[in-house]
Amino acid sequence: MSIDHTVIDAPASLPEPDAAMIEKLKTVAWFARRPRFWPHMAALTTQRLTGATRHEAQKEAAAAWAAARAVDIGRAFAALGIAEPTPRPLDPALIDDGERRAIRSGVRMGGPGDLDLIHRAILAIDASRVVETGVAYGWSSLAALAALRHTDGRLVSVDMPYPKMGNEAFVGIVVPDEWRTRWTLIREPDRNGIHRALAAFDGSVDLVHYDSDKTYTGRMYGYPLLWRALASGGLFISDDIQDNFGFRDFAARLGLNPAIVESGGKYVGLLRKP
Ligand SMILES: C[S@@+](CC[C@H](N)C(=O)[O-])C[C@H]1O[C@@H](n2cnc3c(N)ncnc32)[C@H](O)[C@@H]1O
Repeated sequence: MSIDHTVIDAPASLPEPDAAMIEKLKTVAWFARRPRFWPHMAALTTQRLTGATRHEAQKEAAAAWAAARAVDIGRAFAALGIAEPTPRPLDPALIDDGERRAIRSGVRMGGPGDLDLIHRAILAIDASRVVETGVAYGWSSLAALAALRHTDGRLVSVDMPYPKMGNEAFVGIVVPDEWRTRWTLIREPDRNGIHRALAAFDGSVDLVHYDSDKTYTGRMYGYPLLWRALASGGLFISDDIQDNFGFRDFAARLGLNPAIVESGGKYVGLLRKP
Protein backbone atom coordinates (compact mmCIF):
# COMPACT_ATOMS: atom_id res chain seq x y z
CA MET A 1 0.00 0.00 0.00
CA SER A 2 1.45 3.39 -0.93
CA ILE A 3 0.97 6.45 1.19
CA ASP A 4 0.26 9.77 -0.48
CA HIS A 5 2.65 12.27 1.10
CA THR A 6 1.30 15.29 -0.80
CA VAL A 7 1.01 18.24 1.58
CA ILE A 8 -2.03 20.33 1.02
CA ASP A 9 -1.39 23.94 2.08
CA ALA A 10 -4.18 25.71 3.88
CA PRO A 11 -5.53 28.31 1.42
CA ALA A 12 -4.48 31.93 2.20
CA SER A 13 -8.08 33.02 1.63
CA LEU A 14 -11.26 31.04 1.18
CA PRO A 15 -12.12 30.11 -2.38
CA GLU A 16 -14.87 32.26 -3.90
CA PRO A 17 -17.93 29.97 -3.41
CA ASP A 18 -17.19 29.52 0.32
CA ALA A 19 -16.75 33.25 0.85
CA ALA A 20 -20.07 33.85 -0.89
CA MET A 21 -21.72 31.18 1.26
CA ILE A 22 -20.39 32.80 4.45
CA GLU A 23 -21.80 36.16 3.34
CA LYS A 24 -25.18 34.50 2.69
CA LEU A 25 -25.15 32.91 6.12
CA LYS A 26 -24.30 36.26 7.71
CA THR A 27 -27.27 37.79 5.89
CA VAL A 28 -29.56 35.02 7.12
CA ALA A 29 -28.25 35.55 10.68
CA TRP A 30 -28.86 39.32 10.34
CA PHE A 31 -32.49 38.72 9.36
CA ALA A 32 -32.93 35.92 11.93
CA ARG A 33 -32.24 38.41 14.75
CA ARG A 34 -35.06 40.66 13.47
CA PRO A 35 -38.44 38.87 13.51
CA ARG A 36 -40.26 41.89 12.08
CA PHE A 37 -38.07 41.56 8.96
CA TRP A 38 -39.00 37.92 8.30
CA PRO A 39 -41.83 38.65 5.83
CA HIS A 40 -39.30 40.62 3.77
CA MET A 41 -36.82 37.79 3.88
CA ALA A 42 -39.49 35.28 2.87
CA ALA A 43 -40.39 37.49 -0.10
CA LEU A 44 -36.72 37.74 -1.13
CA THR A 45 -36.34 33.97 -0.98
CA THR A 46 -39.49 33.46 -3.07
CA GLN A 47 -38.22 35.98 -5.65
CA ARG A 48 -34.95 34.06 -5.96
CA LEU A 49 -36.67 30.69 -6.23
CA THR A 50 -39.27 31.80 -8.79
CA GLY A 51 -36.88 33.86 -10.89
CA ALA A 52 -38.94 37.00 -10.31
CA THR A 53 -35.75 39.05 -10.65
CA ARG A 54 -35.99 38.56 -14.45
CA HIS A 55 -37.91 41.84 -14.53
CA GLU A 56 -34.68 43.66 -13.85
CA ALA A 57 -33.49 42.72 -17.35
CA GLN A 58 -35.98 45.33 -18.60
CA LYS A 59 -33.77 48.15 -17.34
CA GLU A 60 -32.66 49.55 -20.69
CA ALA A 61 -36.13 49.45 -22.21
CA ALA A 62 -37.66 50.96 -19.07
CA ALA A 63 -35.14 53.82 -19.12
CA ALA A 64 -35.89 54.50 -22.81
CA TRP A 65 -39.63 54.49 -22.05
CA ALA A 66 -39.16 57.01 -19.23
CA ALA A 67 -36.73 59.20 -21.20
CA ALA A 68 -39.19 59.51 -24.10
CA ARG A 69 -41.83 60.92 -21.74
CA ALA A 70 -39.77 63.10 -19.39
CA VAL A 71 -40.68 66.77 -18.92
CA ASP A 72 -39.65 69.41 -16.35
CA ILE A 73 -41.36 69.66 -12.96
CA GLY A 74 -43.61 72.57 -13.97
CA ARG A 75 -44.92 70.68 -17.00
CA ALA A 76 -45.36 67.50 -15.01
CA PHE A 77 -47.52 69.36 -12.47
CA ALA A 78 -49.52 71.03 -15.24
CA ALA A 79 -50.13 67.65 -16.92
CA LEU A 80 -51.54 66.37 -13.63
CA GLY A 81 -53.74 69.44 -13.16
CA ILE A 82 -51.64 70.85 -10.32
CA ALA A 83 -51.49 74.64 -10.24
CA GLU A 84 -48.28 75.95 -8.71
CA PRO A 85 -48.51 79.75 -8.48
CA THR A 86 -44.88 80.32 -7.45
CA PRO A 87 -42.34 77.49 -7.42
CA ARG A 88 -40.63 77.44 -3.99
CA PRO A 89 -37.35 75.54 -4.27
CA LEU A 90 -35.65 74.10 -1.22
CA ASP A 91 -33.31 76.45 0.69
CA PRO A 92 -29.72 75.49 -0.39
CA ALA A 93 -28.52 76.19 3.19
CA LEU A 94 -30.49 73.12 4.32
CA ILE A 95 -28.61 70.97 1.85
CA ASP A 96 -25.22 72.35 2.95
CA ASP A 97 -26.09 71.71 6.56
CA GLY A 98 -27.29 68.17 5.77
CA GLU A 99 -24.13 67.44 3.78
CA ARG A 100 -22.00 68.33 6.77
CA ARG A 101 -23.98 65.90 8.93
CA ALA A 102 -23.82 63.16 6.28
CA ILE A 103 -20.02 63.50 5.97
CA ARG A 104 -19.58 63.50 9.76
CA SER A 105 -21.57 60.21 9.96
CA GLY A 106 -18.76 58.44 8.07
CA VAL A 107 -21.19 55.88 6.56
CA ARG A 108 -22.32 55.34 2.97
CA MET A 109 -26.00 55.04 2.14
CA GLY A 110 -28.42 55.35 -0.80
CA GLY A 111 -28.60 58.50 -2.92
CA PRO A 112 -31.27 61.19 -2.71
CA GLY A 113 -34.62 61.46 -4.46
CA ASP A 114 -35.56 64.66 -6.32
CA LEU A 115 -35.64 67.08 -3.41
CA ASP A 116 -37.03 70.09 -5.27
CA LEU A 117 -39.80 67.96 -6.72
CA ILE A 118 -40.81 66.62 -3.30
CA HIS A 119 -40.69 70.06 -1.67
CA ARG A 120 -42.61 71.76 -4.47
CA ALA A 121 -45.18 68.95 -4.72
CA ILE A 122 -46.12 69.10 -1.04
CA LEU A 123 -46.54 72.86 -1.18
CA ALA A 124 -48.38 72.79 -4.51
CA ILE A 125 -51.09 70.40 -3.33
CA ASP A 126 -50.95 71.66 0.27
CA ALA A 127 -50.28 68.13 1.53
CA SER A 128 -50.20 67.61 5.28
CA ARG A 129 -50.22 63.79 5.53
CA VAL A 130 -47.18 62.35 3.83
CA VAL A 131 -45.77 58.82 3.76
CA GLU A 132 -42.42 57.90 2.25
CA THR A 133 -40.57 54.62 1.84
CA GLY A 134 -36.77 54.64 1.79
CA VAL A 135 -34.88 57.08 4.01
CA ALA A 136 -31.11 56.28 4.07
CA TYR A 137 -29.43 59.66 4.91
CA GLY A 138 -32.89 61.25 4.90
CA TRP A 139 -32.62 63.75 2.04
CA SER A 140 -36.19 63.17 0.87
CA SER A 141 -37.35 63.36 4.50
CA LEU A 142 -35.56 66.70 4.86
CA ALA A 143 -37.23 68.07 1.71
CA ALA A 144 -40.65 66.82 2.83
CA LEU A 145 -40.30 68.19 6.35
CA ALA A 146 -39.14 71.59 5.05
CA ALA A 147 -42.44 71.83 3.14
CA LEU A 148 -44.57 70.29 5.91
CA ARG A 149 -43.52 73.09 8.27
CA HIS A 150 -45.54 75.39 5.98
CA THR A 151 -48.55 73.09 5.67
CA ASP A 152 -48.47 72.17 9.37
CA GLY A 153 -48.22 68.53 8.37
CA ARG A 154 -46.51 65.29 9.37
CA LEU A 155 -44.27 62.76 7.70
CA VAL A 156 -44.15 59.05 8.42
CA SER A 157 -41.22 57.21 6.82
CA VAL A 158 -40.46 53.52 6.41
CA ASP A 159 -36.91 52.29 6.11
CA MET A 160 -35.19 48.97 6.46
CA PRO A 161 -31.49 49.67 6.85
CA TYR A 162 -29.10 47.90 4.47
CA PRO A 163 -28.37 44.46 5.97
CA LYS A 164 -25.02 44.07 7.80
CA MET A 165 -23.82 47.63 7.08
CA GLY A 166 -24.16 48.93 10.63
CA ASN A 167 -25.91 52.07 9.35
CA GLU A 168 -28.96 51.89 11.61
CA ALA A 169 -27.97 54.74 13.90
CA PHE A 170 -27.39 57.09 10.97
CA VAL A 171 -30.61 56.60 9.02
CA GLY A 172 -32.18 60.05 8.64
CA ILE A 173 -29.00 61.79 9.82
CA VAL A 174 -29.49 64.89 7.61
CA VAL A 175 -32.80 65.81 9.29
CA PRO A 176 -32.30 68.55 11.92
CA ASP A 177 -33.24 67.44 15.44
CA GLU A 178 -35.70 70.29 15.92
CA TRP A 179 -37.81 69.04 12.96
CA ARG A 180 -38.28 65.55 14.33
CA THR A 181 -41.48 66.39 16.21
CA ARG A 182 -43.26 66.23 12.84
CA TRP A 183 -41.55 63.01 11.88
CA THR A 184 -42.04 59.31 12.64
CA LEU A 185 -39.44 56.86 11.35
CA ILE A 186 -40.53 53.22 11.17
CA ARG A 187 -37.37 51.14 10.99
CA GLU A 188 -38.85 48.15 9.21
CA PRO A 189 -39.13 46.71 5.70
CA ASP A 190 -42.02 47.81 3.49
CA ARG A 191 -43.69 44.52 4.32
CA ASN A 192 -45.08 45.52 7.75
CA GLY A 193 -43.75 49.07 7.62
CA ILE A 194 -46.13 50.44 4.98
CA HIS A 195 -49.16 49.12 6.89
CA ARG A 196 -47.92 50.77 10.07
CA ALA A 197 -47.18 54.07 8.29
CA LEU A 198 -50.64 54.25 6.74
CA ALA A 199 -52.28 53.34 10.02
CA ALA A 200 -50.56 56.37 11.58
CA PHE A 201 -52.78 58.49 9.29
CA ASP A 202 -55.87 56.31 9.74
CA GLY A 203 -55.38 54.97 6.23
CA SER A 204 -55.66 58.24 4.30
CA VAL A 205 -52.74 60.32 2.99
CA ASP A 206 -52.18 63.28 0.64
CA LEU A 207 -48.81 62.42 -0.83
CA VAL A 208 -46.62 59.35 -1.16
CA HIS A 209 -42.93 59.17 -2.06
CA TYR A 210 -41.71 55.66 -2.91
CA ASP A 211 -37.93 55.17 -2.80
CA SER A 212 -37.31 51.81 -1.08
CA ASP A 213 -37.56 48.35 -2.70
CA LYS A 214 -36.82 49.01 -6.38
CA THR A 215 -37.47 45.49 -7.65
CA TYR A 216 -40.53 44.85 -9.81
CA THR A 217 -41.98 42.56 -7.17
CA GLY A 218 -41.27 45.04 -4.39
CA ARG A 219 -43.04 47.82 -6.29
CA MET A 220 -46.01 45.59 -7.03
CA TYR A 221 -46.31 44.94 -3.31
CA GLY A 222 -45.91 48.54 -2.09
CA TYR A 223 -47.49 50.63 -4.87
CA PRO A 224 -51.08 49.31 -4.55
CA LEU A 225 -51.10 49.62 -0.75
CA LEU A 226 -49.92 53.21 -0.92
CA TRP A 227 -52.18 54.08 -3.84
CA ARG A 228 -55.27 52.78 -2.07
CA ALA A 229 -54.55 55.05 0.88
CA LEU A 230 -54.11 58.16 -1.27
CA ALA A 231 -56.94 60.68 -0.98
CA SER A 232 -58.62 61.98 -4.13
CA GLY A 233 -56.36 64.67 -5.65
CA GLY A 234 -53.38 63.16 -3.82
CA LEU A 235 -50.02 62.68 -5.46
CA PHE A 236 -48.04 59.46 -5.86
CA ILE A 237 -44.33 59.88 -6.59
CA SER A 238 -41.95 57.01 -7.30
CA ASP A 239 -38.19 57.31 -7.68
CA ASP A 240 -35.97 55.32 -10.06
CA ILE A 241 -38.73 54.17 -12.37
CA GLN A 242 -36.07 53.34 -15.00
CA ASP A 243 -35.05 50.20 -13.08
CA ASN A 244 -37.86 48.05 -14.55
CA PHE A 245 -41.41 48.37 -15.89
CA GLY A 246 -43.04 48.30 -12.45
CA PHE A 247 -44.19 51.93 -12.58
CA ARG A 248 -45.32 51.78 -16.22
CA ASP A 249 -47.34 48.62 -15.59
CA PHE A 250 -48.87 50.00 -12.43
CA ALA A 251 -50.00 53.19 -14.19
CA ALA A 252 -51.44 51.10 -17.06
CA ARG A 253 -53.30 48.91 -14.61
CA LEU A 254 -54.91 52.05 -13.15
CA GLY A 255 -55.65 53.37 -16.65
CA LEU A 256 -53.83 56.62 -15.82
CA ASN A 257 -51.33 58.70 -17.74
CA PRO A 258 -48.30 59.31 -15.56
CA ALA A 259 -46.06 62.38 -15.65
CA ILE A 260 -42.31 61.73 -15.67
CA VAL A 261 -39.45 63.96 -14.60
CA GLU A 262 -35.76 63.41 -15.30
CA SER A 263 -33.65 63.87 -12.20
CA GLY A 264 -29.87 63.59 -12.27
CA GLY A 265 -29.84 60.80 -14.86
CA LYS A 266 -32.71 58.91 -13.18
CA TYR A 267 -36.45 59.19 -13.71
CA VAL A 268 -39.23 59.95 -11.27
CA GLY A 269 -42.82 58.98 -11.99
CA LEU A 270 -45.90 60.88 -10.80
CA LEU A 271 -49.54 59.86 -10.69
CA ARG A 272 -52.48 61.89 -9.40
CA LYS A 273 -55.43 60.13 -7.83
CA PRO A 274 -58.66 61.11 -9.63
C1 LIG B 1 -32.26 55.16 -2.23
S1 LIG B 1 -32.30 55.00 -0.51
C2 LIG B 1 -33.48 56.23 -0.02
C3 LIG B 1 -33.01 57.62 -0.26
C4 LIG B 1 -33.91 58.67 0.37
N1 LIG B 1 -35.27 58.61 -0.15
C5 LIG B 1 -33.30 60.04 0.15
O1 LIG B 1 -33.83 60.80 -0.68
O2 LIG B 1 -32.29 60.34 0.81
C6 LIG B 1 -33.20 53.53 -0.27
C7 LIG B 1 -33.46 53.15 1.18
O3 LIG B 1 -34.50 52.19 1.21
C8 LIG B 1 -34.14 51.13 2.05
N2 LIG B 1 -34.83 49.92 1.59
C9 LIG B 1 -34.48 49.08 0.58
N3 LIG B 1 -35.37 48.09 0.49
C10 LIG B 1 -36.31 48.30 1.45
C11 LIG B 1 -37.49 47.62 1.83
N4 LIG B 1 -37.89 46.50 1.24
N5 LIG B 1 -38.20 48.13 2.85
C12 LIG B 1 -37.82 49.29 3.47
N6 LIG B 1 -36.70 49.95 3.15
C13 LIG B 1 -35.95 49.48 2.15
C14 LIG B 1 -32.62 51.05 1.92
O4 LIG B 1 -32.04 50.36 3.01
C15 LIG B 1 -32.26 52.53 1.88
O5 LIG B 1 -32.12 53.04 3.18
